[in-house]
Amino acid sequence: MLMRYKKRKYFMAGRINLLQRSKIRELFEKARAMEDVISLGIGEPDFDTPDVIKEAATKAMYEGYTHYTPNAGIPEFREAIAEYYKDFYNFDVDPSNIIVTAGAYEATYLAFESLLEQGDDVIIPDPAFVCYVEDAKMSEAGIIRIPLREENEFRIDPDELVEMITKRTRMLVMNYPNNPTGATIDKKTAKAIADIAEDYNIYVLSDEPYEHFLYEGAKHHPMIKYAPDNTVLANSFSKTFAMTGWRLGFAIAPSQVIKDMIKLHAYVVGNVTSFIQIAGITALRDKRSWDALKVMRDTYAERRKLFLKGLKDVPHVEAFKPRGAFYIWAKIDPELDMTSEDFANWLLENSGVVVIPGTAFGKGGEGWIRISYATRRELLLEALERMKKALEKL
Ligand SMILES: Cc1ncc(COP(=O)(O)O)c(C=O)c1O
Repeated sequence: MLMRYKKRKYFMAGRINLLQRSKIRELFEKARAMEDVISLGIGEPDFDTPDVIKEAATKAMYEGYTHYTPNAGIPEFREAIAEYYKDFYNFDVDPSNIIVTAGAYEATYLAFESLLEQGDDVIIPDPAFVCYVEDAKMSEAGIIRIPLREENEFRIDPDELVEMITKRTRMLVMNYPNNPTGATIDKKTAKAIADIAEDYNIYVLSDEPYEHFLYEGAKHHPMIKYAPDNTVLANSFSKTFAMTGWRLGFAIAPSQVIKDMIKLHAYVVGNVTSFIQIAGITALRDKRSWDALKVMRDTYAERRKLFLKGLKDVPHVEAFKPRGAFYIWAKIDPELDMTSEDFANWLLENSGVVVIPGTAFGKGGEGWIRISYATRRELLLEALERMKKALEKL
């Protein structure tokens, strides 16, 4: 028999009401009720996790990796992560400065909770990936948005950043390659921001889960390389190895910060699933997982090219040329006089194509939409065709 709860007023912490559920839920619900919809709204790889990683997890499970691990993660896994930074970026990380987390989401949450409190301010780009603002609310910090502008290729402007810093500023959030714009950061800007962080003694929470999705010669610049004493780096296996459902990520932070992050993590998650951590070692050390990543990246690169080319023939939208992640950030023709939300709804109703209104990422996203090309080529072509046909009517 189904247990039914009494209908009565429950007491809830006011804090939780500050959290906003995703504004795009309605759009997705509307799409679900429709037939023959193509979603370009997805923010995750459409690939399956490489077999070599799955096999490593299964083997580890049968070998007895079914128990608690140290809170910060299995030592060999933390060493493998440090090794990876040395191999890839020629940067030395001490494994004791690493915590294994349940994805970048948890890494980010731990950073906010450990570093901020009421009376502190955090600077968050606008537009930005959705979790930072909600994390900030939970930490009770004041939220200051720094605009990302097209003329600046959606990079944080160091001069503007300096202007925004006050005595209350404790942290800046950055995310390159960027969700939702697909923008990347250049070395000069990364260094300038690092210098500011050091001069004003603020932390930089640098969320870098798309570091391997770069196109047309773009390079990644991990902030930890330029401001090691001020950077909390959040990273993840979700996109790199198509492991979104596994919940595997990590953070790297200065000793005093990582200790506090581990303390909180110990009471919330305890440790990330033991056999998944072992699979993480394989993901980093086995050549086959990197080969799989290359195939995924090459496929994204092809789709990106195809979609950007096709979009040129679609009226009323114009793409910013992204050099990272797997998103296209496209401007809606201002002459249409439609908000991003109106446009996304109209497009769904008239073409059956789901795109995300830019305002889902902040007010700065008004006038833009986010298109994900983590979708099969045939569907991308079909979506382009449908968008063209529908938008020609406007
Ligand atoms: C910029 C950014 N940060 C963090 C996350 C969360 O990733 P994870 O699956 O590692 O928690 C995402 C997921 O889409 C993202 O786009």
